[in-house]
Amino acid sequence: MHNEIKIKDGLYYVGGSDRRLALFENVYPLTNGASFNSYLYLDEKTCLIDTVDLAISETFYENIEFLLNGRPLDYLIVNHMEPDHAANVANLLLRHPETKVYLSAMAKKFLFNYFPSVKAEINEVKEGEELNIGKHTFKFVMAPFVHWPEVMFTYETSEKTLFSADAFGTFGALNGDIYHSEYNFDINEARRYYCNIVGKYGMQVLGVLNKAATLDIELVCPLHGPIHTKEDLGALIEKYKLWASYKAEDDGVLIVYGSVYGHTENMASVLANKIVAAGKRNVKMFDVSKTDVSYLIAESFAFRNIVLASSSYNAGVFTKMEDYLHDLVNHGIKNRRFALLENGSWGPTAKNTMLKILEPIKANNEFLETSLTILSSLKDNQLETLDTIAKALAE
Ligand code: FEO
Repeated sequence: MHNEIKIKDGLYYVGGSDRRLALFENVYPLTNGASFNSYLYLDEKTCLIDTVDLAISETFYENIEFLLNGRPLDYLIVNHMEPDHAANVANLLLRHPETKVYLSAMAKKFLFNYFPSVKAEINEVKEGEELNIGKHTFKFVMAPFVHWPEVMFTYETSEKTLFSADAFGTFGALNGDIYHSEYNFDINEARRYYCNIVGKYGMQVLGVLNKAATLDIELVCPLHGPIHTKEDLGALIEKYKLWASYKAEDDGVLIVYGSVYGHTENMASVLANKIVAAGKRNVKMFDVSKTDVSYLIAESFAFRNIVLASSSYNAGVFTKMEDYLHDLVNHGIKNRRFALLENGSWGPTAKNTMLKILEPIKANNEFLETSLTILSSLKDNQLETLDTIAKALAE
């Protein structure tokens, strides 16, 4: 059964949600699925903006055919070629061979990489070019690397609606509540979505945010999560500016520890007590073995100070800690202050291994001079060193 939602006269939501999906991009754990948004304009001409993931194809096609009610689908705008949005492009064009496709030059290449046998009319668009469908006119705004290099935004000029591809999206299914104000919008999930998926491309995101600032925007329709009105958008843009420029949201301390038998965890806990005693209030601890790396990356974008406490393992660092550190480097984290603690029962190797992994981002971050090495367990004569680290982090 079709399940479309009217957004305003002539504009409909025709996407859907996948609540069975356990891993977004087969990587990031989901607790409440994800939405894959698509939008249909019915004007003098008809125009679809992006398709959807294969998982929700059935309802998507029912929505489109119900709303078209026998009319041709004149245009398809492809803002992003990643398959969670573009997997249905070839199928759609088989159903609607009359449809003309509008997309960036790079998206055209990607389209034929995925679907070499597509026969439709394909139109490359450039920055600022327009497409009129009657009362509505679309202006194309290139947005490379938000999230892939071919990405563009589409701005509808008469109603000031921005179709923002992956930008301003979030994890989580929609439940009829397609507006931000109706939806239980969780900034932690929005941060986890942004930082893990787009976080590496901060420079490009800042560039696109500057471009978007020149547009008069009433409504933002992303490809995941709820639609934002102008009123919701200000706070979210402020967060995006922080994340994109790697500025911490919180001056507190994130402690990530990897502990085999609990002694490294004990050292981290003692440090947490000392940091709070030294005057800091926002200290968060995570066991790297029990926390998916995507949550740790999101917290690392939020916090100014990061303590890494790890057991030595196989003449290196605890394996779960190693995964997190590589992901930190891959995301180019910067402007953080790190403190390192290690445990090694007979040959401590964690600290030097951590430093080696973090070498590519060393110049853009600060590392406390004082670190602590324990052999098996924390001793009384080492508490003073933790005091020094706690005071430095609390400054
Ligand atoms: Fe939701 Fe980059 O795709």
